[in-house]
Amino acid sequence: MPSLRLDGRTVVVTGAAQGQGAAEARMLTEAGARVIATDLAASIPAELESVIPSPDGVLVYRQLDVSDATGWAELAAWIRSQGWQVDGLVNNAGITRRSRLLDTSVADLQKVYEVNVAGSLLGIQSLAPLMGSGASIVNVGSVAGLTAHYPVAYTASKWALRGLSQVAAMELGPRGIRVNTVHPGFIETPMTQGAKPEFRQATVAETPLGRTGSVGEVAGVVLFLLSPLSSFVTGAEIPVDGGQASHGGAKSVSDALR
Ligand SMILES: NC(=O)c1ccc[n+]([C@@H]2O[C@H](COP(=O)([O-])OP(=O)(O)OC[C@H]3O[C@@H](n4cnc5c(N)ncnc54)[C@H](O)[C@@H]3O)[C@@H](O)[C@H]2O)c1
Repeated sequence: MPSLRLDGRTVVVTGAAQGQGAAEARMLTEAGARVIATDLAASIPAELESVIPSPDGVLVYRQLDVSDATGWAELAAWIRSQGWQVDGLVNNAGITRRSRLLDTSVADLQKVYEVNVAGSLLGIQSLAPLMGSGASIVNVGSVAGLTAHYPVAYTASKWALRGLSQVAAMELGPRGIRVNTVHPGFIETPMTQGAKPEFRQATVAETPLGRTGSVGEVAGVVLFLLSPLSSFVTGAEIPVDGGQASHGGAKSVSDALR
């Protein structure tokens, strides 16, 4: 019977030093995978040190700036030199810029696109040649890619990532490679620690489950999408947002009429 176990599978996670990426790297290792955790830091980040040794899978750390094509080529060459194929890729690395519509510069837009969109494109281009049938790619979008959202550069980049994901699902499907997207809502991570309290309060008010999410709640959906349990799921987009994006703004009306 298919299960959530990833024994014998090699999975690359980007932006794995903290937040959701670290939680994903930990959970995938516990599920039995060989996890290649990557991030900007030259040496293994503190968050990942405690994953090693794991009684289940194995975690190795490699430095990678996802916006650097040479870095991706070096990672792919290193994986090949180990004699491994790649069974999973989590394009998790992402950055935000919180400037508003009339203040956002082209430089802001370019920086966010370089990481959130080009970084994911480079990941797919670099590692798809090492993948066989049954491999799975998970792109990490955002509720900002499902609705309007106040940081315009970030919002536009996550909408663009959806387009990239759908093309990749179409193009790689015939090779048996699945491509899906998760859209986290407000998740408690270092990224959201820096957000204004008003952002948290207003988001919780728009969230039917009435709370923010945890990194483990995103990692669990990523694990499902990497596992054989989701073997006929591709081109899908799964919000992990407590229902935030589901009501199209009707929650405030519903709440007002209670
Ligand atoms: N936290 C949230 O509420 C939330 C909501 C929706 C979507 N997301 C998305 O989830 C993903 C993870 O977010 P998080 O909250 O864990 O963020 P985070 O800021 O806590 O962690 C992001 C990680 O990505 C790494 N990173 C940044 N630029 C990089 C680059 N060029 N190359 C490699 N690594 C890089 C950082 O070093 C960091 O370790 C992002 O794609 C983010 O856009 C987060």
